[in-house]
Amino acid sequence: MRNNIVEDIKARVFKLIKEAKDVKSLEEARVKFLGRKEGELTKLLRSLKDLPLAEKRKIGPAANALRKELEALLVQKLESFKALPAGRQSKIGIDVTMPGKKVFRGGVHPITLVEKEIREIFKAMNFSVMEGPEVESEYYNFDALNIPQDHPARDMWDTFWLRQNEVKSQKLKVKSEKLLLRTHTSPVQIRYMEIHKPPFQIIVPGRVFRYEATDASHEINFYQVEGLMVGKDISLANFKFVIEEFFKRLFKKNLKIRLRPSYFPFVEPGLEVDVQCVRCGGRARLPDGQGCNICKESGWLEVMGAGMVHPRVFEAAHYNPREWQGFAFGLGLERIAMIQYNIPDIRLFYSGDLRFVKQF
Ligand code: PHE
Repeated sequence: MRNNIVEDIKARVFKLIKEAKDVKSLEEARVKFLGRKEGELTKLLRSLKDLPLAEKRKIGPAANALRKELEALLVQKLESFKALPAGRQSKIGIDVTMPGKKVFRGGVHPITLVEKEIREIFKAMNFSVMEGPEVESEYYNFDALNIPQDHPARDMWDTFWLRQNEVKSQKLKVKSEKLLLRTHTSPVQIRYMEIHKPPFQIIVPGRVFRYEATDASHEINFYQVEGLMVGKDISLANFKFVIEEFFKRLFKKNLKIRLRPSYFPFVEPGLEVDVQCVRCGGRARLPDGQGCNICKESGWLEVMGAGMVHPRVFEAAHYNPREWQGFAFGLGLERIAMIQYNIPDIRLFYSGDLRFVKQF
């Protein structure tokens, strides 16, 4: 009679497992028979020790065999639930249609983004893109640009000079042996003109260095884009058109520009270029009545130095200044990126902080 207990349990549990439609009902069946405390089979196995020896010998092996059989059956059935409908299965048993895990691919540095955009705009206006060395000679950085030794204008650029024994191995094309980290991209004007004939128009993006204290708007290195256009009858009117067009394309807005007289030894006349503030549209106030912080409530943004190429610069490049004229300009990239992306401190660009770069 007791022998049939095992048979009885077996019949009922097999039926339950067979009918189970999901993981939940399967688990319920498992708990009902194999649960630690109240499982029917568990309880039967636990009670074996109290049975007379003869019964124990009969029921024991049958009950244990059933437990093993059940465990295997439960695993098998569980696997069958995990299996996916045909079409979503791959040969190796993974769901190939499931969306993958997102991998962080890094971000593009905002300076790179802005530089790329500026290159594209000028290329579309038929400018070529050139580059020059960051380690530069005194001749190209200063002398050839009409900034003679001991001239007070040299103080406009605080310079990192290189110790000569550190740079002896450098194979630079130099006219004066004293080397430095270029303080601006203007030396590339000379380098380009030495080996090209006008007319032409180029831009020169690149990194420059200044030996000065850092604060929210000054860094010891930053990026510039130099521009140079030379031809038979290039005038400031051409410059104004090109630059207005450039800002229109960059900021995707019609913005006025303003030219103010200024001084750079390699241009005559020299100019400072302001563009109408992108944020407040030149009104110096924001729509909510607050003062505009981008232009410091002036309505204008100082964005570049410029001017007509100085005759001495043409002479240094062996161009006849009576035959050729041109304009040049120098634009700070960080300034543009700070305006474009509302970045409050120039030092963020070089902080190496991933939280900054990941935003772009
Ligand atoms: N090289 C100048 C600077 O770094 C900018 C400039 C370039 C001005 C070209 C005039 C013409 O300050």
